[in-house]
Amino acid sequence: MPDKKIVVISGAGISAESGLATFRDYGGLWEGYDIEEVASPQGWEDNPDKILEFYNLRRKQAAKAKPNEAHKGLADLEDDFDVVIITQNVDDLHERGGSTNVIHLHGELRKVRSEKDETLIKDIGGKAIKLGDLASDGAQLRPHVVWFGEMVPMIEPAVKEVSEADILIVIGTSLVVYPAAGLIEYAKENIPKYIIDPGEPQLFNADEWFHYKEKAGTGVKKLIEKIKEKL
Ligand code: OAD
Repeated sequence: MPDKKIVVISGAGISAESGLATFRDYGGLWEGYDIEEVASPQGWEDNPDKILEFYNLRRKQAAKAKPNEAHKGLADLEDDFDVVIITQNVDDLHERGGSTNVIHLHGELRKVRSEKDETLIKDIGGKAIKLGDLASDGAQLRPHVVWFGEMVPMIEPAVKEVSEADILIVIGTSLVVYPAAGLIEYAKENIPKYIIDPGEPQLFNADEWFHYKEKAGTGVKKLIEKIKEKL
């Protein structure tokens, strides 16, 4: 069992080169959709059809997308390190890229659940759901994703992993959505911290970070070479 732990915090940017849109970049998802309408409990109450349509489309797109070099590179790191991926992404490209230890902070597109009982979850792959599709308790099925204003149950295991990291890597997230963005504050002092992003995420203590200011595909390749040099 490798003894060093690498923790990766990823966001929509890592899946951009697989053809999935980010949220806040030019042309991103939040330009075409109103967050309140498609990603909040109020939106679900007001117009569930619209929410189902939004996630059905994203589920279909994600099912067609393929993991890119960044997802695959992180999976290869498992040969030499204990790697934990904490992702805000609802796609399954980390898993399909080969990563075996993935924490989904904001849920998973492939899964749906009862709107009444959050433990009644089922995997529907790339399929669509509609009003009238029911869980085993007779309640309407909803996407198994975290909406704004909802709890983020996976934050606790994620905090624990970050606090145990020997190397921390952040890829493709603007770091503006909490509690995910606050995770980096739980890292031990003086561990190597790397960020891969062509933009300027909202980094706290930016001087502690080595920034690969480029896309995930090339950035991950360079970073892995650097980390492996030190083995
Ligand atoms: P954002 O859209 O906020 O940020 C995407 C980040 O990816 C930006 O920092 C971009 O510069 C960067 N980026 C763009 N292309 C890239 C590429 N090819 N390689 C690497 N980086 C690239 O997405 P997130 O930070 O993931 O939550 O958004 C966080 C949360 O806000 C999402 O999980 C979602 C959203 O609302 C919910 O829906 C609950």
